[in-house]
Amino acid sequence: MGIQITPSILNADLSRLADEVARIPSADWVHVDVMDNHFVPNLTLGLPVIEALGKHASQPLDAHLMIEDPDRWAPAYAEVCGSVTFHVEAAKAPVRLAREIRAQGARASMALKPATPIEPYEALLPELDMVLIMTVEPGFGGQKFLDLCLPKIRTARELMRKHGVETWLQVDGGVSLETIERCAEAGADVFVAGSAVYSADDPDAMVEALRAKAEQAQD
Ligand code: DX5
Ligand code: ZN
Repeated sequence: MGIQITPSILNADLSRLADEVARIPSADWVHVDVMDNHFVPNLTLGLPVIEALGKHASQPLDAHLMIEDPDRWAPAYAEVCGSVTFHVEAAKAPVRLAREIRAQGARASMALKPATPIEPYEALLPELDMVLIMTVEPGFGGQKFLDLCLPKIRTARELMRKHGVETWLQVDGGVSLETIERCAEAGADVFVAGSAVYSADDPDAMVEALRAKAEQAQD
C-alpha cells in the first residue's frame, strides 16, 4: 500500500455527519474517534452512531477507540468497521484482543500515547495490521503536533522492517501540510487529519494536497 489519508470527523459538523463524509470522496478511510470521558477527558460518539454512519460512507471506517476496557467493547466495533484501533495503555490482553478483532474480519491496530514506548510491544507486531503513533495527547482535535514523537515513528518503522511485517504505520494529531512531510520521512504511511481537512474551504482538495506532500517526502 502507498500513502493513505484518513480524515477524522471529530472537527466536522457533528450534526451532519453523512454530509460531512460526502465532502471527502478522495479519502481512503473515515477516521472515527470514540472517547468515553474516562480514558480521555472528552466524550464523543459510540457504536449506534458509527453503525448509522457506516450505511452512508463510501469508504470503510477506521475506529480509534480512546476508551477504558477495549477488551470488552472493541470486538463489536470490528463488526461494523474495517479497522479497529485500541490503546495498549487500556488493553488488558492486547494479543487476545487483536486476534478477536481480526476474527471479526477487521484490521487490528494498536495505539500508543506520546509517552508510551514501542519497544516493549515489538513481539506483538505480527499480530497487528497497523500501529498508531499519537502525535498529540489523545482527547481533542486541533492540538499542536508533538515533534518529540518523531523518533518513535522511526523506531516503529525499523522494528517492522526487522520483523518483515507489512504493518501499516499511522500518525494522528496535528497532521497538516506543515507537519505531514516529517511524519512521512520518519516512516508513517497512514495519516489522520482532522482540523486540517475540515477547516479547509475544500476538504477534498486538502486530502489530495496532504497525499501529494506525503508522497513527495517518501520519494
Ligand atoms: C485526537 C484524535 C484525533 C483528532 C485529530 O485525540 O484522536 O483523531 O481528531 O485532530 P487534529 O488533526 O485536528 O489534530
Ligand atoms: Zn484519532
